[in-house]
Amino acid sequence: MNNFFELIEKRESCRRYTGESIEKEKLIKCIEAARLAPSACNGQPWQFYLVTNSDIKSKLVKLTQASSKNASAFIVILEEKPRLQTKIVNNLKNQEYTQVDIGIATSHICLAATELGLSTCILGWFNEDKIKELLNIHLSKRIRLIISIGYSSNKEPSKKTRKSLDKILTIID
Ligand SMILES: Cc1cc2nc3c(=O)[nH]c(=O)nc-3n(C[C@H](O)[C@H](O)[C@H](O)COP(=O)(O)O)c2cc1C
Repeated sequence: MNNFFELIEKRESCRRYTGESIEKEKLIKCIEAARLAPSACNGQPWQFYLVTNSDIKSKLVKLTQASSKNASAFIVILEEKPRLQTKIVNNLKNQEYTQVDIGIATSHICLAATELGLSTCILGWFNEDKIKELLNIHLSKRIRLIISIGYSSNKEPSKKTRKSLDKILTIID
């Protein structure tokens, strides 16, 4: 088991998978981690499609990016229309909490996967309409993000390139 901060260090975007399959229970655990994520007004504005079927996966590689090849699964994250309460809060506060919620759930999935020894890549660039057609998802729905998931070919984590703390942090004592 990882210390939480080690887990954060360990998580990185995987763009080379081994192709080894993942036990279904591990994938379900990742979705369970998303299920427990916080969301504005507890609206839980998400639906998840877990794809492990080989034919559909190869089609998804073509509709996302080539580096997803050999991923053991894809998690397609659908954004549900916000409930009335969230809509009101979004309008009153001029915010888009629904997308924030999806981001938090996505992060839960990626960290849970890392804890289970898996690797992920969040994909925001994909052919949304073709994927909806492929998965029989109604055109009115939004696919907000897709996560490729599998075992990484990279054994050592890469160094993280990030802005320094002084560039992003203002402390008001
Ligand atoms: C909302 C979002 C969309 C992203 N879309 C893509 C994508 O389409 N393709 C890709 O290879 N990586 C994508 N990434 C991964 C980022 O490039 C990556 O998280 C960032 O470069 C930091 O690297 P790391 O994840 O390895 O720490 C996305 C990440 C986020 C949070």
